[in-house]
Amino acid sequence: MIDHFGFAAPVYDRILGRPNTPRLARLLRLPENARLLDAGGGTGRVSAHLRDRVDRLVVSDLSRPMLLRAARKGLMAVSATAECLPFPDASFDRVLVIDALHHFRCQREAVGEFARILKPGGRLLIEEPDLRRMAVRAVALAESLLRMESRFHPPEAIVLMMQGHGMAARVAETDRFRAWIIGDKPFGTCYARMTIRFGRS
Ligand SMILES: C[S@@+](CC[C@H](N)C(=O)[O-])C[C@H]1O[C@@H](n2cnc3c(N)ncnc32)[C@H](O)[C@@H]1O
Repeated sequence: MIDHFGFAAPVYDRILGRPNTPRLARLLRLPENARLLDAGGGTGRVSAHLRDRVDRLVVSDLSRPMLLRAARKGLMAVSATAECLPFPDASFDRVLVIDALHHFRCQREAVGEFARILKPGGRLLIEEPDLRRMAVRAVALAESLLRMESRFHPPEAIVLMMQGHGMAARVAETDRFRAWIIGDKPFGTCYARMTIRFGRS
């Protein structure tokens, strides 16, 4: 398997540029003393700009070259697949997933992990390229030609994934290229870890 992100790591931040931090902060609705996980967070390109707004920030990813860049920024970098996170239940207030869900091998399982590690009342924010746009379909084709094994889903399908794990979910915003999907974990419910395996999604 080609390590695309290993190759891209040295130039990744320069190519992708700065995130729209105010938009993300607004959608995340960060509480006081928040614990934030940036899953598939790579170099920490996005969450490095949120570190002053939270009490604890963890960047997890499976690419060590990407994580190395996050660690060099002084971020707490954890090597882990999104489908099997090494964190206890209910240990984060917020989970952020930027431009990464379509790279996860089993996306439903990963969303189940995010639901598990979120505290009741916690929020999952996923930013994904919006497959309903022609430009994104072209990107999806290019990634398949590059053998990246990406699997893009339209925003409504991501909402269903979140709902399948007991979250109140909605498409919060879209622009010409991306969609932001929010899943809120309900308060006052005892969350049982989903053990059903959905296979590749
Ligand atoms: C397009 S990059 C986005 C990185 C970062 N979120 C950003 O926006 O700068 C996708 C990231 O997902 C990571 N990734 C892919 N599959 C993963 C998995 N199963 N578990 C965790 N991270 C994964 C890749 O290593 C890569 O760093």
